[in-house]
This record gives sequence, structure tokens and C-alpha cells, in this order.
Amino acid sequence: KIPVSSAQSASPNREDLDAAVRQCRACPLWQPATQAVAGEGPADARIMLVGEQPGDEEDLTGRPFVGPAGRLLDRTLEELGIERNALYVTNAVKHFRFQRRGKLRMHVKPGAVHVRSCYRWLDAEIERLRPRIVVCLGATAAQAVLGSASRLSQLRGRWLPLDGERRALVTVHPAAVLRALAADRDSMLRGFKRDLSLLSAQTE
Ligand code: URA
Repeated sequence: KIPVSSAQSASPNREDLDAAVRQCRACPLWQPATQAVAGEGPADARIMLVGEQPGDEEDLTGRPFVGPAGRLLDRTLEELGIERNALYVTNAVKHFRFQRRGKLRMHVKPGAVHVRSCYRWLDAEIERLRPRIVVCLGATAAQAVLGSASRLSQLRGRWLPLDGERRALVTVHPAAVLRALAADRDSMLRGFKRDLSLLSAQTE
């Protein structure tokens, strides 16, 4: 749960929570990163999308899903008639983990320790927003939200119970679609779109 020093109530207001996220030093990822990337979206969003961690562009701009994976996500949502602006978009880990290779900063998957120590923020976001649906983009998000080590292939594409009325939907991460070999990309993209199409009926 959220540290007492940064928020006194169980359900902190948006500004307190975002400020606390930005000051987080709970794991070493903050140090080489430009900034923490807090979640973004309307305070009354019924659907929360959870990614893995910010990438290079997200780290530089301070906004989630604005790089290549975000553009694929936007395109897919648009094709499904789902307005991204109606969704709350966040990540399991709020700082970019990377390795320098020359001028490039290469994405490195966050470890279980990073996901665990960052969970306080995702938990606080869920507590504050109380979304009806939490969409996990990729295995890291699924692990953070469901605490399940099950394979993505066993979880994806169907409604999973969370607490109370809340449900989760798991799908692949859009970056995995982009990384896929050309031969697999079309079918991965179709699967991604098919999974997310379950949301269409929920946004009306
Ligand atoms: N990938 C993620 O998981 N999150 C982002 O914000 C961007 C890329």
C-alpha cells in the first residue's frame, strides 16, 4: 500500500498519488531513468489498461504508451471503435529499465523484484479508480495483477474474475506483436485484436 509519508488516506487523490509515484525510490530503477511515468486517463474510467513498463519515448515524455507499442495499441483500439481517451492507461512498473548500447537505450524486462516493489502504485491506482475491468497487456502485467504464474496462452482472451464485480482480461503485449517475426506478426495482431474486441461491448 501507499507509504504514509506521501498520502494519508487509503484512497489518495490523483495529485498526491502521481507526485508520490514520481518521487519513488523503492527500487534502483529510478536512478538511470529520466522520470517515473504515472498512469493517465479519466478519473471515472471503467477500464484500466496495464502494460509492463515505460519504454524510451515514455521515459522521455513522462506519458504511458506513446512510443511504437502505444501507436499499435491506439490503432487497434481505433479499429475496434474503442476510444483510448476513455480508458485509464498505466504500467506494472513505473520506471524504464534499460541497458545502454551506444546511443541506444535497450529495453530490459523488469525483474520480479521490480514488479513487486512497484505493485504499491498499481494497487493504489486500482483502489482509487475502482475500474470494472483491468486489461493486462503481456505477462508482466498479468503477473502483477493476477499474481498468477500461468502462461499467457492459458490466460488470454477470456474474462477472469478479480475481486468483487471486477474482471480481468489478458492479452499479448503490443511490443511482442511488433517484435514478432514477419511470418507470425499477422496472426499475433489478429489475436491481439480479437482479445481486445471483448472490450467493445463494455465501452458503450
Ligand atoms: N510498453 C509498456 O509496457 N508500457 C508503455 O508505457 C510503453 C511501452
